[in-house]
Amino acid sequence: MTRWQKWLAAESASRDAAGLQRTLRPRAAEGATVDLAGNDYLGLSRDPAVIEAAATAARRWGAGAGASRLVTGTLELHAQLERELAAYVGQPAALVFSTGYHANLAVVAALGGRDALVVSDAHVHASLVDAVRLSRSPVEVVPHHDVAAVEAALAAAGDRRALVLAESVYSVLGDAAPLVELAALCERHDALLVVDEAHGLGVRGPGLVHELGLAGHPHVVVTATLSKALGSQGGAVLGPQPLVDHLVNRARPFIFDTGLAPASAGAALEALRQLRSRPELSGVVRSRMQDLAAALGVSPSAGAVLSVPVSSPRVALAAQAAALAQGVTVGCFRPPSVPDGVSRLRITVSAGVPEADWLRAVDVLVAVVKEHS
Ligand SMILES: Cc1ncc(COP(=O)(O)O)c(C=O)c1O
Repeated sequence: MTRWQKWLAAESASRDAAGLQRTLRPRAAEGATVDLAGNDYLGLSRDPAVIEAAATAARRWGAGAGASRLVTGTLELHAQLERELAAYVGQPAALVFSTGYHANLAVVAALGGRDALVVSDAHVHASLVDAVRLSRSPVEVVPHHDVAAVEAALAAAGDRRALVLAESVYSVLGDAAPLVELAALCERHDALLVVDEAHGLGVRGPGLVHELGLAGHPHVVVTATLSKALGSQGGAVLGPQPLVDHLVNRARPFIFDTGLAPASAGAALEALRQLRSRPELSGVVRSRMQDLAAALGVSPSAGAVLSVPVSSPRVALAAQAAALAQGVTVGCFRPPSVPDGVSRLRITVSAGVPEADWLRAVDVLVAVVKEHS
């Protein structure tokens, strides 16, 4: 065995010993189960008009964008998507990326730096954690939703430029950030609040930032993904034009990456138009969320993700397997992938699931949760 083979084998053995070995399970195109684990919250990834838009864009622009956006990879289709996305979310400008992960890397890396300070909620997504590392910024990680701790960190920032990181709706617990308070703090301390709307956009219409009257606030910028409620692939940063200009010039995850694929851009644009013309889609998610939370005896979340805590990682796995055996796929999150160390089922509510399947899935989940609590 080579040194590397030995090292890989030892790493794998230690994952096995901890019960944390992850494997990929390719799924079939036609779902044999009701999918309450994915993030296609509005069912738009299967919408015929969205699929047709992806195919049309690929035929017109090619299978790939062909180059970095700074070379020949910026398409008129990207510009159209950016205009419509910015208008919908209520921001002056937008820049799209090949993933939401890249959007987060880009905004923090291009705004942060050794001479800046990042104040980050402890529950932010891994892409924001990695973004801080890439930016080489000093970072203060504050307890979840702890506005007073954010205030203390900003007060200690001195004359450094400070960025505060939060998600509008958190991806694992589904809880909403205190955005109004955070924006007010950023205004008072002349800092910038970066809000990741990955789980807010679409599920809460134009997002929570917009809903709370913070769109266009000079101390708030937004990142988003095109791969959840919009059913496609890609990400975006939304804010003032000078911010977008800065990212185009300085953000390495933008500059050194091939532009968003035409099919993804075309699909996201059509999904956005569907979202605008069918606001009732997010209403379906909200009412299903209320019904499911009531049936399971937990509080509804602010988005489409319902977190159901269980007593141990083993119980979480057993509950997930029991649901799957009855044709319902749910997420199972265990340490270290949970911000608070609590194992849980993560159930996503989608407007795309047919009503009869949804009602059956609720019955299955009620029985499974009862049996495993
Ligand atoms: C909160 C949050 N931000 C960013 C991302 C990354 O988005 P994408 O999957 O489009 O790269 C995700 C997706 O998992 C997420 O949950």
